[in-house]
Amino acid sequence: MQLLYETYLKFLLFFVFLFVKQLSWAETGTNPLTNISYVNSLGYPFKYPYLSSNGLPVETSFKFPSPLPSMPSDGGNFGKRSIDMGGLEVTQISISNSTSHRVWRTYEGGPDNMGVSIFEPTTIPRNFFKLGFYAQPNNRQLFGWILVAKDVSGSNLRPPVDYTEVGNTTTLLIKQEGPAYFWQPLCPNGYHAVGLYVTTSPMKPSLGQNSISCVRSDLTEQSEADTWVWRIKDMTISSLRPATRGVEATGVFTGTFSCKQLNFLPHPPPLFCLKNTKFDLSSMPSENQTRVLFKTYSPWIYLHPKEDFLPSSVNWVFANGALLHKKGNESIPVPIHPNGSNLPQGGCNDDLFWLDYLVDKKAREKVKRGDLESTKVYLHIKPMFGATFTDIVVWLFFPYNGNAHLKFLFIKSLSLGNIGEHVGDWEHVTLRISNFNGELWRVYFSEHSGGTLVDACDLEFMQGGNKPVVYSSLHGHAMFSKPGVVLQGGGKSGIRNDMARSDKCFDAGIGYEVIAGPGVVEPPWLNYFRKWGPRVHYRIDIFLNSVAKILPIFLRKGLRKLINKIPLEMRGQDGPTGPKVKVTWTGDEQYS
Ligand SMILES: *[C@@H]1O[C@H](CO)[C@@H](O)[C@H](O)[C@H]1NC(C)=O
Ligand SMILES: *[C@@H]1O[C@H](CO)[C@@H](O)[C@H](O)[C@H]1NC(C)=O
Ligand SMILES: *[C@@H]1O[C@H](CO)[C@@H](O)[C@H](O)[C@H]1NC(C)=O
Ligand SMILES: *[C@@H]1O[C@H](CO)[C@@H](O)[C@H](O)[C@H]1NC(C)=O
Ligand SMILES: *[C@@H]1O[C@H](CO)[C@@H](O)[C@H](O)[C@H]1NC(C)=O
Ligand SMILES: *[C@@H]1O[C@H](CO)[C@@H](O)[C@H](O)[C@H]1NC(C)=O
Repeated sequence: MQLLYETYLKFLLFFVFLFVKQLSWAETGTNPLTNISYVNSLGYPFKYPYLSSNGLPVETSFKFPSPLPSMPSDGGNFGKRSIDMGGLEVTQISISNSTSHRVWRTYEGGPDNMGVSIFEPTTIPRNFFKLGFYAQPNNRQLFGWILVAKDVSGSNLRPPVDYTEVGNTTTLLIKQEGPAYFWQPLCPNGYHAVGLYVTTSPMKPSLGQNSISCVRSDLTEQSEADTWVWRIKDMTISSLRPATRGVEATGVFTGTFSCKQLNFLPHPPPLFCLKNTKFDLSSMPSENQTRVLFKTYSPWIYLHPKEDFLPSSVNWVFANGALLHKKGNESIPVPIHPNGSNLPQGGCNDDLFWLDYLVDKKAREKVKRGDLESTKVYLHIKPMFGATFTDIVVWLFFPYNGNAHLKFLFIKSLSLGNIGEHVGDWEHVTLRISNFNGELWRVYFSEHSGGTLVDACDLEFMQGGNKPVVYSSLHGHAMFSKPGVVLQGGGKSGIRNDMARSDKCFDAGIGYEVIAGPGVVEPPWLNYFRKWGPRVHYRIDIFLNSVAKILPIFLRKGLRKLINKIPLEMRGQDGPTGPKVKVTWTGDEQYS
């Protein structure tokens, strides 16, 4: 009897617990993008956040805070809406309710479990043909584009000979607007498919006027999955990007997507992207146009309020006590000319030369602290995706990188001694701008040895303008799109990246210098390929031993494991190199 009573009481308590938890879900179930809150009676708070389209971010089109500037015209093809790619003339259709028709939508799966929407471009210029449909997660405002093409020769575009189904959502028990069927064009010999067709009926799309086109194979290139757009159960939708990317690569980001459904078609035929066979750089912005673009989109950079190590111009560092050291002659370092003209040029990142600051404590400390007044950013103008886009890479120089801090279980911030400290720290953010219309598409934030691409619709803009806000992390100076704390290393412990607004901030558009790009004369310091600081070896063991004394034994192993996950650059095994030595100099930002 007693036992039964206890069991009963436990059950009662459990349900009271569930009820209370339910209330708190109602409190936390607010979508910060829309402020729409929801309560879920099934007990899975984030399973069905949206029971209808109301309030889904994708229902609103993204708009830049300010109108885009008009471009000074100078005879080039930048901003002319269409690009001659040799055999095909191509134009970019911005997806909106006036250019496109939504074919299908689901309210589940994908980022934030808000589902995906699929659009067919419908308002396209005369004689242009669509090459595929566009897919976007519903957790973002509608913002994207797709390319459509015009056949210049009469034999470069062909209708498909048939369609093959690559997936459907009939068996997925998800909240959706009827099932969707995904069709891949089967192309005539010598032609390739670039995108998919989507229907809401099981009938194959017709091969007539409204079909999507196949592209002659020599005007296409291999593509690969870019970002994940939607995934649920056995089905994945990914946007596609050229497999080979970089300043010399001809592959064009086309804006289409692929659909993979496990066990549907074991080997669906591949999808391709367009190729710019002409690639004459005439679509790149001129010097004057670049100036207008940078004035419009120059990032607004916030340093952390506790930041000790500010950026500076490189010339300020050279003028304030940077020395060139040479292997074998370590005791007699040479002062660097303020314009960097006596830095060794070319070669490779061997250890023959390196920079360091004056030994005198006071002078050294001064250089390390940087100088916001003199700070300049350095721009590298890169063609991307066969010169259909321009990357404006914004490089910042910090004379010194401060030490790292760890969050470890309940310890909020554990200083890692001198681990992470080094002379000479190059960081960058990249603006990726459409050469069709001058619109900012994405911004890349470099974060240690990786980084994040953020679409313009997810950026924070400085009040009233189109300047994205960038947060530089405390001491490490990694670039982030949001304030807050990001832990590197995964889970609840890791290296801290602390970002916050402060009065240590500046508009990168105020002081800048274009250092590289078509027709630009490069400053001598850019072609210095050795290290901007001495190679350092942090004594991780000494640090661990000193910390171990204050940690309970059962935590020491965890700390050691975490430290071993710290990226190599933080462990000092490779010194800081200049912009031109990084793989991204000629490659894409995301090279893996
Ligand atoms: C959401 O609510 C918060 C606080 O009530 C407010 O500051 C914010 O502006 C709101 N966001 C939107 C998109 O309405
Ligand atoms: C298109 O979208 C805009 C903004 O999102 C909205 O104001 C307008 O009413 C929509 N038009 C149609 C025809 O749906
Ligand atoms: C660039 O702009 C300046 C004035 O801002 C003008 O004098 C010059 O002619 C322009 N250059 C070209 C190539 O259009
Ligand atoms: C939909 O997909 C299922 C497999 O998931 C397949 O058996 C079925 O034939 C497809 N339906 C249509 C109408 O294509
Ligand atoms: C060492 O530096 C001194 C002073 O700059 C120079 O005269 C000498 O030639 C250098 N020796 C070597 C081996 O580079
Ligand atoms: C750099 O400065 C040195 C003297 O410090 C001068 O001789 C040289 O001409 C300068 N070079 C350039 C490219 O300005």
